[in-house]
Amino acid sequence: LRRSGGADDLAGRRIVISAGGTREAIDPVRFIGNHSSGKQGYALARTAAARGADVTLIAANVSLPDPAGVDVIPVTSAAELAETVQERRVGADAVVMAAAVADFRPSSSVGSKIKKSGGEPDPIELTENPDILADLVRTRAERAPGQTIVGFAAETDDVVSNGRTKLERKGCDLLVVNQVGRGRAFGTDDNQAVILGIDGSATEVPRGPKEDLADQVWDLVSGRFHG
Ligand code: CTP
Ligand code: CA
Repeated sequence: LRRSGGADDLAGRRIVISAGGTREAIDPVRFIGNHSSGKQGYALARTAAARGADVTLIAANVSLPDPAGVDVIPVTSAAELAETVQERRVGADAVVMAAAVADFRPSSSVGSKIKKSGGEPDPIELTENPDILADLVRTRAERAPGQTIVGFAAETDDVVSNGRTKLERKGCDLLVVNQVGRGRAFGTDDNQAVILGIDGSATEVPRGPKEDLADQVWDLVSGRFHG
């Protein structure tokens, strides 16, 4: 792994990372989910641990081996992820929300499997999930003063301007904006991104392994710790 900030520049730092994609139950056997593989979040966990950080990885439905030396906490739904992130963020130096959080969940999850009735299926009513990243920012002063908060976004067009608008809406310190579409990002080992800073900075990361993007994120986070 590349460690441009020095092998141990994250030593003594506590870092919380969310990875994967949430699942929102429709009934006991079905859910609304997304295509996130968790690879980028796991790459962030591996590289942070390699740079000396004490890493907690909150993994939503990921089928990848646990990174060595990392505390992995499995979760399923956005509500469960929200609760676990808020609990673990206390005392952490940085939180990185790499998980793909479902924007909506079925308003009610029924206790028994939905059966075909022969007629038209019932529509599934949806409720918006809480915005975990925005809530982390909103409660930072009270629960984790000085914490660095990093978000991720996937955009298909106008990557920088859409990313800048989203960064301002969320209020996080850094937003990693992935360029998706045309076979990029989901499930692949490569990523191409621009990392936007609340200070107006934009760091282009050329297409390359998810570890390289992860190390670039840690370079910027480490710079905030040391600057
Ligand atoms: N996120 C979150 N909670 C949500 C939705 C998103 O914490 N309910 C986080 C994601 O983990 C990611 C960032 O917010 O770090 C951006 O997610 P994205 O889906 O791009 O943003 P949204 O605000 O949901 O906007 P959009 O309508 O474009 O999906
Ligand atoms: Ca969303």
